[in-house]
Amino acid sequence: MQTMALALILVPRPSLSLHPSQGVSVGDNVTLQCHLSRLAARVWLYQDGGWTYRKSKDKKQDAAEFSFVSTSREHAGTYRCQYRVSESAKISEKSDPVELVVTDHSFLPPSISLHTKECVGTGTNVTIWCRNKGFGATFLLHKDGHSAPVQHQESNVAGTATFTLFGVTPADTGTYQCSYRPWRYPFVSSPLGSSVTLEVAPTPAPPDPTGATFTSHGNLVVVVAGGCTAAFVFILILVIFFFLAT
Ligand SMILES: *[C@@H]1O[C@H](CO)[C@@H](O)[C@H](O)[C@H]1NC(C)=O
Repeated sequence: MQTMALALILVPRPSLSLHPSQGVSVGDNVTLQCHLSRLAARVWLYQDGGWTYRKSKDKKQDAAEFSFVSTSREHAGTYRCQYRVSESAKISEKSDPVELVVTDHSFLPPSISLHTKECVGTGTNVTIWCRNKGFGATFLLHKDGHSAPVQHQESNVAGTATFTLFGVTPADTGTYQCSYRPWRYPFVSSPLGSSVTLEVAPTPAPPDPTGATFTSHGNLVVVVAGGCTAAFVFILILVIFFFLAT
């Protein structure tokens, strides 16, 4: 028991990092770095359910590098690394997993559509549909200015995913795009598809957004439209101001 605890202290767990950490496409060069805090004789890189790569190492370096010169679909997956200490036969635990997602431009980009008008009031539930050419996939919804996807959703077998943004606020205003990862290749991504723009007015939506209520609450609709128009005028003023200032 005591020796086991000692071995764990003496052989710290390595950590694995990916360079570049995202946006890798088929054909790109990518490097996985296994960071060690001890001299290692041998370092292993494991792809979950796939290949094992090994490297002998004796130089005084604190990282072992594994490079794919031309990344292919088969390289996509989850990786962990592990090492053996030089002067003993002790083996470290495996590092935390790192995901290598590879974008394959031979997959057609998905299409996107907004299930409401482009300008809605605060509190509205907005539905966005993303579609590929008819096969099951996990869809990711991306928003301009966010590096991580804002939502992900499984499609139906026909390749359509439905995203709902519940009770939107002006912070949800922006440009949305989607991408997908086929169920058969969970770490291979399609390129980003076309985009839709959503604009959320700061005023609340009408209580029931059906045609009938639109006529009876005409003034409320005007207020909502006014919110978006006001935003548009504001941007226009900013643009004019910018041109006058330069
Ligand atoms: C939005 O969706 C939620 C959950 O389905 C529902 O309770 C709510 O009434 C919806 N709001 C609007 C404005 O449709």
